[in-house]
Amino acid sequence: MTQQSFSNVLYESGDGNAWITVNRPDKLNALDRATVAEIVSALELAEKDAQVRVIVVTGTGDKAFVAGADIKEMSSMTAARAQEYSRFLHSSLRRLERSTKPVVAAVNGFALGGGCELAMACHVRLASASASFGQPEVNLGLIPGAGGTQRLQRLVGRGRAMELILSGDRIDAEEALRIGLVNKVFPAGQLREGVEAFAKTLKKKSPIALARAIEAVVEGGEVALEEGLRMESALFGLCFATEDMREGTKAFLEKRKPEFPGQ
Ligand code: CAA
Repeated sequence: MTQQSFSNVLYESGDGNAWITVNRPDKLNALDRATVAEIVSALELAEKDAQVRVIVVTGTGDKAFVAGADIKEMSSMTAARAQEYSRFLHSSLRRLERSTKPVVAAVNGFALGGGCELAMACHVRLASASASFGQPEVNLGLIPGAGGTQRLQRLVGRGRAMELILSGDRIDAEEALRIGLVNKVFPAGQLREGVEAFAKTLKKKSPIALARAIEAVVEGGEVALEEGLRMESALFGLCFATEDMREGTKAFLEKRKPEFPGQ
């Protein structure tokens, strides 16, 4: 088990998983600029560590995942500074989304504003039954600025995204599951176990295949169909140059479980 502490983020890795925990419990894990930069630094640690196969993002405690961008920090920003801040948030969350290792959001409580946006930049969202989601920025005279206006409609469709963004309402985990904002909901207190079980299934797969699949879905999902299909073919072809593909197909034909070398 490796542990590293940043100021507002805890980093813990072991058993093939890296847990990145936003740790500002007295502010319900709200994201100030320094905390976002630390999430990216923790992500880089996880990406560089060959032992890490799955990256998990969560928040300290059982009340909040992340209750949004830090409202105090934003309150005195000029328009130009806020625009730059939004770009900084975009590029930081894009790093998560473009990670070649699967990134799972373990949503353990409030995922509001920038917290919901952070969860949406992860590849998969697993939530505690006590979690809640929302884009409440309009209540502050703002709009989502960390990708919410774009990623929410891609995940749940424009109608529901518009409703959440315009109303600023919070929805509970069951409703988030129903509309496709989260992948799975676990009873309160069982989220960590659920995440570990999910990570275990991912660790049995070829890490190269997972990386190519993420790239095809993330990059290919943002271009015209023809171009996305071309990307898919190129990435599909690349899989055939790996030992993992040889092993996976051979194991199937020999009626045994594959042992992927990760090459
Ligand atoms: N920024 C800064 N501080 C926050 C915060 C945030 N987003 N959310 C909570 N806090 C702080 C509170 O100010 C409070 O601090 P103090 O004890 O120093 O006063 C502490 O966390 C505990 O919060 P509450 O007392 O409010 O806790 P509660 O249980 O009564 O309410 C809550 C919980 C409903 C989540 C409420 O805290 C809340 O509404 N928070 C703000 C949610 C929000 O509007 N998020 C969007 C932010 S804007 C954004 O994210 C823009 C973007 O897209 C980039």
